[in-house]
Amino acid sequence: MTGAAARPDRAAPPHDAPAAGAARVLVTRALPEAWLGPLREAGLTLDVIDQHEAPPRAELLARARGATAVWVMLGDRVDAELLDAAGPELQVVATFSVGVDHIDLPACRERGVLVANTPEALTEATADLAMALLLALSRRLAEGEALLRSGGWQGWGPQQLLGFDIAGARVLVVGPGRIGSAFARRVRAFDAQVHYVGRRRNLSLEDAIGARYEPDLDAALARSDVVSLHAPLTDETRHLLDARRLRLLPTGALLVNTARGPLIDEAALVAALRDGHLGGAALDVYEREPEVHPGLLTLPNVVLLPHLGSATHGTRARMATLVTDAITAVLRGERTANLVA
Ligand code: DGY
Repeated sequence: MTGAAARPDRAAPPHDAPAAGAARVLVTRALPEAWLGPLREAGLTLDVIDQHEAPPRAELLARARGATAVWVMLGDRVDAELLDAAGPELQVVATFSVGVDHIDLPACRERGVLVANTPEALTEATADLAMALLLALSRRLAEGEALLRSGGWQGWGPQQLLGFDIAGARVLVVGPGRIGSAFARRVRAFDAQVHYVGRRRNLSLEDAIGARYEPDLDAALARSDVVSLHAPLTDETRHLLDARRLRLLPTGALLVNTARGPLIDEAALVAALRDGHLGGAALDVYEREPEVHPGLLTLPNVVLLPHLGSATHGTRARMATLVTDAITAVLRGERTANLVA
């Protein structure tokens, strides 16, 4: 087995590793055989919920029973109920995402269940998508395409669908981690002025592109033409952009979110877009996925994608390798670098 290296410096796993053939891995969606191959080659028994949508909760709970490992997706809530339904055989939950906000990490720790995610594999793809959204929003690509497809285009016009320049714009990156930094590098290459807020300073980002650290979110918002969110969803970041903070942005500011929907109060966002305070929003994530606030669907100055941040062939294949490496490593009694709990 190749991939994520075992970390001998970490503590021993909480359970004895079972004989390979005895271990059962629950996979909560239909996945390509190539992604599942390493688990089969390791002699693990797979129980694949053979559908593309999230399984009903009752099915997830029933199928988890007796599993040694579970490969979950963003839409699967992993909480005490699921862990207890799985029972004491469960050693590892591996999520096909970098975000772990759908997983109750303390409940996993209490039960000695390890949690693995897929960092790094999706950094560039997600940063690309954030940049694509910003360009689509600032240059009104969706509106332009809709005009053309509707047959209503009458030819070039001097004031037709005017957008905003990225060069020279003050772009605030909220969360200068891997994806935020990769986005910051991209937008800097478009000659924007980059500043950032985060729990701590990112000196390598400052050195690399001259990004300016802002110690205070409120003050930073007031100085931004564009805000792009890259923070994880936690109790502290839920509704980070609430009605008050959205109003701190200068009139006409643009907002991009490829992180997690609940970072923004979606109802307040709709109000700020409707009354023209915000110039537009480009969103890949929503407060109650797959529901989208109906107010967003009727606004022209928004670009809406169905959570596609990591959706490239190469990225998803690399994420699958991280997941299968983590599961096989843990079941061999090793720890891997991508353990979050
Ligand atoms: C993640 O990995 O957390 C992303 O949201 C999935 O694209």
